Amino acid sequence: MKKITIAIDGYSSTGKSTIAKQLAKALGYAYVDTGAMYRAITLFAIKNDFIGGKQGNINALVNLLPKINLKFVYNKDLGFAEMYLNDENVEKEIRTMAVSRQVSKIATVEEVRYKLVEMQKKMGMEKGIVMDGRDIGTVVFPNAELKIYMTASPGARATRRYKELLDRGEEVTYAEVLQNVEDRDYRDSHREISPLKKAEDAIAFDNSGMGLKEQFERIHNFALRVIEKKA
Ligand code: DC
Repeated sequence: MKKITIAIDGYSSTGKSTIAKQLAKALGYAYVDTGAMYRAITLFAIKNDFIGGKQGNINALVNLLPKINLKFVYNKDLGFAEMYLNDENVEKEIRTMAVSRQVSKIATVEEVRYKLVEMQKKMGMEKGIVMDGRDIGTVVFPNAELKIYMTASPGARATRRYKELLDRGEEVTYAEVLQNVEDRDYRDSHREISPLKKAEDAIAFDNSGMGLKEQFERIHNFALRVIEKKA
């Protein structure tokens, strides 16, 4: 069976990673969460006081980019790959609000995008990959055989993210999470380089109010149809 490339883009908390993980498992493909890569660079920037304090120093971050080592390491028990920053497992730390507040600023830095897009292209060279992010169908894999553009209302997305953060023990308010979702939507879709937008050949998929089972069945079917055609 020929393998394909599946690109999943969309605003934050639209459930991209949930469907991407399910698809990768069902098809026996690799899954790559590109948001985790932007988050890991952001964590590095926060830890080194390059962002978030009174004086940001993006130039210093850019100079150190070649020294930042990112890798995904598959965790058998969890069933997905975790993010490692300079050999340290940062999977939990990169999901905190402290990182979410800064990440879309880091994602506007041209040199950061260049480094990460090059890594992502390499990871997808052999196909058989499901990658999620903001620019996967437009920039990373413009020739992906299947592109899905996920949407859901900001309220539905903030509710999901709020529950996730509470489950992880973070002290946040719903209002703060909604504000963060809206701020990131704006920044992600208005930045100059690789803004979030639907690729012309992407399938728009609104999952507001849709259960996970139905969402999986529908998107899995899209994938099977494309794979059958290639065979
Ligand atoms: O998917 P996420 O919420 O974990 O992504 C975190 C941030 O990273 C998001 O606000 C935008 C940025 N991002 C990006 O610019 N390009 C990608 N391919 C993935 C994420």
